[in-house]
Amino acid sequence: MPLAAQELLRCPICTGGWQASETSGRSLVCTAGHRFDAARQGYVNFLTGRGTRFLPDTAEMVAARERFLAAGHYAPIAAAVAGAAAPALAHDDGATGAALDAGAGTGYYLAALLSRVRGSRAVALDLSRHALGRAAKLPGTAAVVWDLWRPLPLPDGAVDAVLDVFAPRNFPEFARVLRAGGLVCVVTPQADHLAALREVLPMLDVPSGKTDDVERAAGPDFERIDVRGLRFGLELDPETAADLALMGPAGHHATRSELLPRLRNRSLHAEGAVDVTVLRRR
Ligand SMILES: C[S@@+](CC[C@H](N)C(=O)[O-])C[C@H]1O[C@@H](n2cnc3c(N)ncnc32)[C@H](O)[C@@H]1O
Ligand SMILES: [Zn+2]
Repeated sequence: MPLAAQELLRCPICTGGWQASETSGRSLVCTAGHRFDAARQGYVNFLTGRGTRFLPDTAEMVAARERFLAAGHYAPIAAAVAGAAAPALAHDDGATGAALDAGAGTGYYLAALLSRVRGSRAVALDLSRHALGRAAKLPGTAAVVWDLWRPLPLPDGAVDAVLDVFAPRNFPEFARVLRAGGLVCVVTPQADHLAALREVLPMLDVPSGKTDDVERAAGPDFERIDVRGLRFGLELDPETAADLALMGPAGHHATRSELLPRLRNRSLHAEGAVDVTVLRRR
């Protein structure tokens, strides 16, 4: 059985396609003989033998992210993202759609999209092996360890939609891997995203990347077709508030026992405020 969605991947070393005969569900071998074995958890690491200067999320950070997302606090974002990207995946001639989730993490937003457009295929890219173990379980999905700042290991025009939720945005490569008319759906935090929580937990990720910057960075290959501000309330008990901090960069240096006293055993009301920007590949 071939690896799910392997036709959406190409060799990260030589950009070649895969040998059909040698390829099984557990490994990809390109026409020049470069070989990548799937891990037991189902993801494939394309960064083998190359150092990367980024610090990937730890297993604890991923567990915090998974608990927080599973509780549904960001469900309004998932619904907005899936709703915006789904039309690009639905083809009139019945062909299956294809999506890329850039910086997919555990694949929470991709899961929402795939459940809307059943039978679609997808590639989930992230630096974090721990996160991709979850994303690899999504139907029709190849989960690949990769650095978004390198040329992406996908052929030109391979996908109908790119999701980028709170993740790095490599627009020249998004433009290359998208078909003409395909969509990018970008989620960026507004300046007051989770402000009440950031007063209590100063180590919480500070929002970066303004919506105007998204459009500017996208450049002439893209036209903006929609920007929607999304505001929603979150009731956060102390453990959940700690998860929200620990699933971000703070998870690299702060501990739960340091954070909990700051939350004083109280639930906290915060407001999520993000922009969902939809751009069309010209
Ligand atoms: C804030 S998280 C968002 C994850 C996911 N989209 C979500 O919202 O649950 C940012 C993700 O981007 C990944 N990431 C950061 N820099 C990256 C890079 N250069 N290449 C690939 N992934 C990267 C991180 O590992 C992390 O999973
Ligand atoms: Zn190769």
